[in-house]
Amino acid sequence: MKKIRRIGILTSGGDCAGLNAVLRAVVLRAVYGYGWEVIGIRQGTAGLMARPVAAEVLDPAEFTGLLLRTGGTILGTTNKGDPFAYPMPDGTLRDRSAEVIEGYRALDLDALIGIGGDGSLAILRRLAVQGDINFVGIPKTIDNDLGHTEVSIGYATAVKVATDALDHLQPTAASHSRVMVLEVMGRDAGHIAINAGIAGGADVILIPEIPYRIAHVAAKIERLKHEGRNFALVVVAEAVKTEDGEPVTRIQAGGHVTYGGIGHYIGARIAEETGAETRITVLGHLQRGGMPTPRDRLMASVFGVHAVDLIARGAFDRMVAWSGRQVIDVPLTDAVAGYRAVDPDGPLVRTARGLGICLGDA
Ligand code: F6P
Repeated sequence: MKKIRRIGILTSGGDCAGLNAVLRAVVLRAVYGYGWEVIGIRQGTAGLMARPVAAEVLDPAEFTGLLLRTGGTILGTTNKGDPFAYPMPDGTLRDRSAEVIEGYRALDLDALIGIGGDGSLAILRRLAVQGDINFVGIPKTIDNDLGHTEVSIGYATAVKVATDALDHLQPTAASHSRVMVLEVMGRDAGHIAINAGIAGGADVILIPEIPYRIAHVAAKIERLKHEGRNFALVVVAEAVKTEDGEPVTRIQAGGHVTYGGIGHYIGARIAEETGAETRITVLGHLQRGGMPTPRDRLMASVFGVHAVDLIARGAFDRMVAWSGRQVIDVPLTDAVAGYRAVDPDGPLVRTARGLGICLGDA
């Protein structure tokens, strides 16, 4: 195996809390543990497409203070611009993968670490195969929908933010005798919704994995009222559909489609069915920013160190993962193929039902 001297790292896909903590762990381990140089690539694969290539040496001294604690990513990132189908100004899609690989070569790197979710890691692996790049992936996504790892960076912080939101909503709900609807992110998976909903004392949790009927939600709210409760907390995952089975989406600049708005639909339907006064909070990108929780910082450190150790061992085409209280690594192909939504028969759904939380199906 060629001797490693210089590795690259990039953050890809949507940002989340804990990315800077991963960068810190990689830099400390690579520089102090192995004497390598670490090059940070800007804006994900866009930095490798840029000419000159947008990249800089990452100095351990940069990481001594705030960065362990701050959200975002100092490298920047993008969740658009797949290099295999890159949107051009004239509206066409072009395969620019060869340019990305050429950019990687220009940096004279011996290996690359990519921090991403399933979509980004699949793209990065494809590039690695095409360009014969020694690649290791680190899982991050607030959606926590990657298979083969129990933990992805950013998820714990997102759950905390959503739980804090319920803690903030409950007193105002009780003061005004209102039904508060909280819409949370998670893309097609309801992990944030069910975790924060249980932790934050929600009365109703709607997730895309369990079809609902508004009549069941209304009945739950009426029951609470008859029991003497003057408020209710409802958590809705963003990918929950309307009763007609329509996803609620928005088209962002450049045609990028995101979820958003189902909370308003559910709030209006609850008001119609029960006469309750409802208010809606769409938590949005608050779930992605902010200080990473201790758990996210810890996992960022564990994953960063393990990824560098994998490179040192020449173990490529793998993703670091957390399973059964251990840091492990799995083939990247398995990792990106192993999508994981909430298990409708799993422990959290059983717990929610056991607590009397309405999941909309009964
Ligand atoms: O995948 C992370 C995520 O925050 C999803 O939960 C959400 O649906 C999406 O990204 C939002 O994307 P954007 O940052 O483009 O609005």
